[in-house]
Amino acid sequence: MSKFSLKINGKTQEVDVDENTPMLWVLRDHLKLVGTKYGCGIAQCGACTVHLGDNAVRSCQIPVSSVGDQEITTIEGLSENGDHPVQQAWLEIDVPQCGYCQAGQIMSASALLKRNPVPSDTEIEAAMNGNICRCGTYTRIKKAIKTAASATENA
Ligand code: FES
Ligand code: FES
Repeated sequence: MSKFSLKINGKTQEVDVDENTPMLWVLRDHLKLVGTKYGCGIAQCGACTVHLGDNAVRSCQIPVSSVGDQEITTIEGLSENGDHPVQQAWLEIDVPQCGYCQAGQIMSASALLKRNPVPSDTEIEAAMNGNICRCGTYTRIKKAIKTAASATENA
C-alpha cells in the first residue's frame, strides 16, 4: 500500500491504496464518490468517465499512481449546484432514461465543449463515440450538447 494525495473536485484527498488501483475504485470505494459508474472495467463503455485536467478519461484504466498533481473532476464536482450548462441542457431535453451511463456522458460532453465550444455533428459523434448507452438516448444526448453549446455561445 502507498499513500497518494489527490486533487479531486477542488479538494485534496489522501488515500492509502495499492499503486495499481484504478482511479474508479479509489473514487467509488475509498472516497464514496459514487456518481462515477462501473460498467465494463476495460475502457469500452465510458460509464466511468471523469476529467483529468481538461481531458475526459476512463477512470477504470487510470492507475492511481499515474495521476500525480493533475486535477480530477467527477460528476459531483462539475459544478457546485448542478447548474453547469451541460447539466442544464440535460434537464431541458430530458436526456436520461435509466440514467446509468449519464454521468459519463455528461463528463465527455463537458470536456468536448471546453475544448470546442461549438462542435459540428461529426465532432460530437467522434467525441461521444466511446460512451455507450444501453437505453439508446443518443439522439437526445446530441440535441442536449447542441443546446449547451448554443447556451454557452450566447452567454
Ligand atoms: S467502466 Fe470504464 S469504460 Fe467501462
Ligand atoms: S440512460 Fe440507460 S444506459 Fe444510458
